[in-house]
Amino acid sequence: MVKKVLVFGDIGIDDTVALIYGYFDDAIDIVGVVANYGNIPREKALANVNYVRELFDIDPSIEVILGAEKPMTGENPKFVPEIHGEYGLGPIEPPLLNEEGVVENFFEVVEIINRYQDQELVIVNIGRLTSLATMFILYPSVMENVRHIYMMGGAFWVPGNATPLSEANFHGDPIAAQLVLNNAPDVTIIPLNVTQQAMATPEMVDYINRVGLAKIIKPLLDYYYQFYKQRNPRIQGSPLHDVVTLMATIDEDMFMFRYLPVEIIQGVNGVERGQSIADIRPYVDQQESENGAEKSHRIALELDYRKFYNKFMSIMTGQVFH
Ligand code: BDR
Ligand code: CA
Repeated sequence: MVKKVLVFGDIGIDDTVALIYGYFDDAIDIVGVVANYGNIPREKALANVNYVRELFDIDPSIEVILGAEKPMTGENPKFVPEIHGEYGLGPIEPPLLNEEGVVENFFEVVEIINRYQDQELVIVNIGRLTSLATMFILYPSVMENVRHIYMMGGAFWVPGNATPLSEANFHGDPIAAQLVLNNAPDVTIIPLNVTQQAMATPEMVDYINRVGLAKIIKPLLDYYYQFYKQRNPRIQGSPLHDVVTLMATIDEDMFMFRYLPVEIIQGVNGVERGQSIADIRPYVDQQESENGAEKSHRIALELDYRKFYNKFMSIMTGQVFH
């Protein structure tokens, strides 16, 4: 059965590659995108979704909804053009397809969830969690119709990327991240532990560019790779954080999971802000938490890179990799 997916994202480079991947994978049907602040302001995130839709002539019935403008902390967000480019598309400046200004249409999210409630709709959150948390605050009964939530976020016993301890999506709005974990019954967390392994090498990008179906991938990932390489000259490629999160909706066998309670450190500016803590002390009754006695979440802690590579390259080139 085709997986109906509602995406919440901050539509930078890896978000955009995830949308393109979802478009090419016939097992995934992205039925809507909520465009939030995060890597870039929400207006640019929305323009990027429309740009991708135009580029691939995607069915205009896919809703694009304007999401949160700032985090629940009330701060003004800091954007990261050095990673994702001024417009979130690396070197590309998309036409702002909304000359008439951008419609604030967030209630569409309720309509989409109700429309697909009998089709096992899943939500894939690949940005800050502010808009998704708002859904649990305003529409808790509607959210009972969502089959599962996959979120890109967190870093468990590995270095963060926003600070030495915390990952950017959880760091950007730690209040929202904890609120979603406290309220969502079925969550899969795809943290840096696995997304840092989901590398697109320059060779992969050049091959996709030669034989693939999307010429935008190369400029996007070349720009993304330059950022990572100047920070770590030994890095082999760029981490497709959001792509591997979307892939998890279909290819669960790429991961090793554990079920653990998760606490997200709050706080304003400390290095620990947004840090994700899971309790794996051996004397704690893991069996109890694995059985969900305490609210536990499924966390992907290992990735089978060969499976990731084969699936990603197959979908992005239309050829068979195995
Ligand atoms: C996450 O933060 C964003 O910059 C990326 O798009 C990804 O969703 C990685 O920490
Ligand atoms: Ca993202």
